[in-house]
Amino acid sequence: MWKCERVIGADLDVEEVLGVYRASTLAERRPVHDVERFARMLAGANLVVVARDEDGRLIGIARSITDGAYSTYLSDLAVDVAHQGRGVGRDLVRVTREAVPEAKVVLLSAPAAVDYYPHIGFTRHESAWTMDRLS
Ligand SMILES: CC(C)(COP(=O)(O)OP(=O)(O)OC[C@H]1O[C@@H](n2cnc3c(N)ncnc32)[C@H](O)[C@@H]1OP(=O)(O)O)[C@@H](O)C(=O)NCCC(=O)NCCS
Repeated sequence: MWKCERVIGADLDVEEVLGVYRASTLAERRPVHDVERFARMLAGANLVVVARDEDGRLIGIARSITDGAYSTYLSDLAVDVAHQGRGVGRDLVRVTREAVPEAKVVLLSAPAAVDYYPHIGFTRHESAWTMDRLS
């Protein structure tokens, strides 16, 4: 079994979190080679939920930014492949939502997860827009 709980991103061990990004395959789509930037991603996220197994090992993470009242941007959802398909991802999203129940959760899906999000209750939005970073 596992346990999900909200934590302070800056308090996490960066190497341990990098391990779960790699073990989930999300590392292929995040700047994991720039550890200083990755550490800022963790410290700057104000709604971080982690899943740990019975031995305390990190097996999943949901990294979000929320205003605490209206919207929560779920930037990264990652579960170690050895623990996928057991409900850990769904539980991470549940705890994220329950942390700020008034907030709508928005996200950009990775290609491999486009069928996942509707499966756990998300609705596709036809007018989502992004603007690339400046540098
Ligand atoms: C996407 C991801 C977070 C899902 O986590 P998970 O713990 O395996 O998912 P869950 O066990 O909570 O799955 C809940 C349900 O969704 C289904 N599901 C899981 N992955 C799915 C997928 N990629 N597509 C469609 N359905 C999926 C499960 O079979 C389960 O179905 P059930 O309720 O009928 O039994 C995980 O596969 C992952 O880390 N993937 C790699 C990183 C990634 O792409 N993250 C998304 C970034 S936006």
